[in-house]
This record gives sequence, structure tokens and C-alpha cells, in this order.
Amino acid sequence: MSVTELLRPRTSVDLTKRPRRLRSSAALRALVRENEVRIASLVQPIFVAGERQPKGEIASMPGIHRFSVEGAVAEARELRALGLSAVLLFGVPDFKDAVASSNHDPLGIVQRTIRALKRDLPEMLVIADLCNCEYTDHGHCGILDERGDVDNDATLELLGRTALSYAEAGVDVIAPSDMMDGRVAYLRKTLDASGYTSIPIMSYAAKFASAFYGPFRDAADSTPQFGDRRSYQMDPPNAREAVREALLDIEEGADVVMVKPALAFMDLIRAVREVSSVPVACYNVSGEYSMVKAAALNGWIDEDRIVDEMLVGFVRAGADIIITYFAKSFAERKHRSSTTPR
Ligand code: PBG
Repeated sequence: MSVTELLRPRTSVDLTKRPRRLRSSAALRALVRENEVRIASLVQPIFVAGERQPKGEIASMPGIHRFSVEGAVAEARELRALGLSAVLLFGVPDFKDAVASSNHDPLGIVQRTIRALKRDLPEMLVIADLCNCEYTDHGHCGILDERGDVDNDATLELLGRTALSYAEAGVDVIAPSDMMDGRVAYLRKTLDASGYTSIPIMSYAAKFASAFYGPFRDAADSTPQFGDRRSYQMDPPNAREAVREALLDIEEGADVVMVKPALAFMDLIRAVREVSSVPVACYNVSGEYSMVKAAALNGWIDEDRIVDEMLVGFVRAGADIIITYFAKSFAERKHRSSTTPR
């Protein structure tokens, strides 16, 4: 008896169904592939820093830089050439105080970047993150009350002012990431009252108090000087509450709802997708980027394959829009493989 005969199963089973048939060649696998990452669905975050702030590569995020206004425009031009069509702006201002004054300065760092981008690259979609933590000296996302907690209602007024100044600068989309209650309704009303009825709101609807934001806080210089963000950002174990937050934001007029972070919260991308009547975004955050980079730089994982799996995982989970620091390198890679024959 030959070895193969010896190894043949002795009991007969029905093997008319063989899923492996459709995996037998690259062409077949491509033919039956269910999901795909569209370059047009990716958003690249960009950090712009004031004149007096250090620029250059962020130590904990290899490949990601802090730009000047001109640098951000040059970067956006490269992104555009790769087929990417949206950026998410974060400002690192020269001046901070207790009430985030530099956030609604018409000549603030984000306002100037919006103007420059819309002047030089009008077809690039400019989304502005709307929050106060990069602009307050205490590093919290709003105005503090006597107890040192963020005052929800006072913070709304501040967010409204900043949103208007972004709108005046020509922003395309506003993305509030502060997690104050009622902010979507408040911002919608404020924008509409000034005639900005067609600026969409992409709300960070289910944003968790997460250790995955660690490297971002280096990049944006926004680490809270005391305490943490648990009284306004969500508690990671909560899933039902994430759905509630998304539904509330939709009711308040959000045009897009977001789940953030993404990797450890894929179930919530799916859950929100299932109840949502609007597009769902997810944010593949700084810590998720840095973990992959660190392991890849050590030669422990294959970065390109890991990124492909992660991004298509977000699509499979139900994300329509993916905000990721990998957007540029992913687009570069797709670009290369479509122009150079393998
Ligand atoms: C501002 C904001 C943060 C991130 C996006 N907007 C930081 C935070 O909430 O602490 C995190 C993004 C990332 O980690 O990539 N509130």
C-alpha cells in the first residue's frame, strides 16, 4: 500500500462540496473576492504646526510628519497625484490657554491651512477635526468647571465659534471629536444660521477613551496635564452605548458617523453600520499605526500584508470611509503595482 492510500480517510464522507475549488488560482480568487479597499474611501490625517513649533517626522509615528502650511499643501498635492481625495487636518498651535482662544482665531493654523489648500488644490476635500485639546494649556477637550471637569454646555459655544471660523476659511467637512453631548445639533444649528447649510458634519459618534491615542498626543502635543478623558470619551467595554451615541448623532443631523479606534472595535463598526442610515467611518488611529510600524521595522511582520488585511477588515466590518495614517503608503503601493508589470 502506498503512503497516500494509507492516509486516505477510511470512512466515506460527502466531498462533493469543496470550497477549496474557488481558491485554486489567483484568477479564481480575484474573481470571487467579496470586498476591496477603494482609494477614494481613504482619508489621510495631516498635522500642521505653527511657525514656532518643531516640524518633521513624529518619533513615535515613523513616516508621519508635522508640516508647515506650505508643507501641508505640498503633501496634499502628492496625495492628490496618488488618487487620494480627502485629508483630515489637525492643528498644533503656537499659543495655548485655558479657553482654547487660538482655535477660533481667523488666522489660526488650521484656518490658514484650509485657505491655502482650497486655493491651491480646490478639488481636494478638506475635513477639519474639531476639538479643543490641542489648543488648551490643560490639554482637555473643553472648558473646565470649578471641579476640573469639562463643562459640556460652555464647551458647545466654543466649538460653534471654531466651526464657524473653519467654515469661513472654506472647509468642506467638519468633524467634531470632542464627545460633548448635543454638539451635533448645536453645530448644525450654528452653521445653518450663518448660511453654511451645505457643510456636512462627520461626527466622532462612538469615540472611546483609548490608550491607542498615545502617539497622536505626541504628534499633536495634546496630552491632558491632569486626569484623563473618561468623563467625556466612552468606556471601551460598552457596545450598546456606542449604538446609542451613533443613533443620537444621526437624529441630531450628523451626515456621517464614526467609530474610533477601529481595530479593537470592529464589532461596533458592524453594529453601527447595521442601524445607520448614513455612511459609517472608522478611524484607524495612531497607536494602531505605530504598533504595525514598530513590528515591521523590527522585521517581525510583513507591513504591506498586515495593512492590506487591516484595511479590508474595516471594509468587511462595514466601514464606508477609513481614516488611516497608511492612506498615502497604501495608495503609493497600489499605484506602483498598477504601473509596473509583475
Ligand atoms: C482630538 C483627537 C484625538 C484623536 C483624534 N482627535 C486625541 C484624543 O482624543 O485624545 C486621536 C487620533 C489618533 O490617535 O490617531 N480630541
